[in-house]
Amino acid sequence: MLQLGDYCPIGVFDSGIGGLSVLKDIHKLLPHEDLIYVGDSAHAPYGDRSARYVRERSQAIADFLLDKGVKAIVIACNTATAEAASQLRETMDVPVIGLEPAVKPAAKLSKSGVIGVLATQRTIDSERLLGLTERYAKNKKVLAQACPGLVEHVEACDLNSKAINQLLQKYITPLLEEGVDALILGCTHYPFLLPAIRKITGKEIQILETGRPVAEQLKRILKENHLQKILIDSAQNLQYKSRLTFYNSSKDKQHHLSMQKLWQESGTEQVPILELPNLENT
Ligand code: DGL
Repeated sequence: MLQLGDYCPIGVFDSGIGGLSVLKDIHKLLPHEDLIYVGDSAHAPYGDRSARYVRERSQAIADFLLDKGVKAIVIACNTATAEAASQLRETMDVPVIGLEPAVKPAAKLSKSGVIGVLATQRTIDSERLLGLTERYAKNKKVLAQACPGLVEHVEACDLNSKAINQLLQKYITPLLEEGVDALILGCTHYPFLLPAIRKITGKEIQILETGRPVAEQLKRILKENHLQKILIDSAQNLQYKSRLTFYNSSKDKQHHLSMQKLWQESGTEQVPILELPNLENT
């Protein structure tokens, strides 16, 4: 097979397993690209950590990915994007793609003019969210709801227990009472809770995730930088399987099981989980 383009993998990371909701969209849109995913479950949730801690962990993980030869890095975590994206863009010599809560599309979709954002406290307090709101939703009412506890439930692969449903009720019902008709999932762990969230909101509310837009942004950036993998022979194209490599910083087998379960639920093949070596925070 004639090989063209850049065959290096793409690095993707999150505070834990939530970023798999983004990885899923990347894998769907760019099925030929090799992907290395790092979940930092031993140090999740980032939302409860200091800004400095999140920056240091993000830098250490990005350095690890760079050592693995990645050609681009996706920060599949809103919290790490808010705290560390500018620093990583300065220190990495590969493109760094971050996430942003979907304020712009939500503002377009909302008819009631009331938008809800579910996110970690750190994302809610970030200048990034403030900036997006000022820019795209100045004439809307934006209600930001911090959701402590949700990340831990998703990390434990608890997506539908009484406890998680009660937490979701507590966070979402007041937003609905205020007239929210567009709800932004501003944390990459939350899309795994979509069925439980839908039960509370009903079908009419628009729920916005960031996985697909980020995958499209990544595709654009790879193309602009001539970094996309190009397979020429079409028969082989059909059979080509990209290589997926997963790391997790946690030694807890439960985290590894959750990671496998959530990945497989996205309809893809099982991927063994490797233990992330100890990384020095920089
Ligand atoms: N997935 C992360 C995000 O998108 C979760 C943050 C956390 O670990 O608190 O913000």
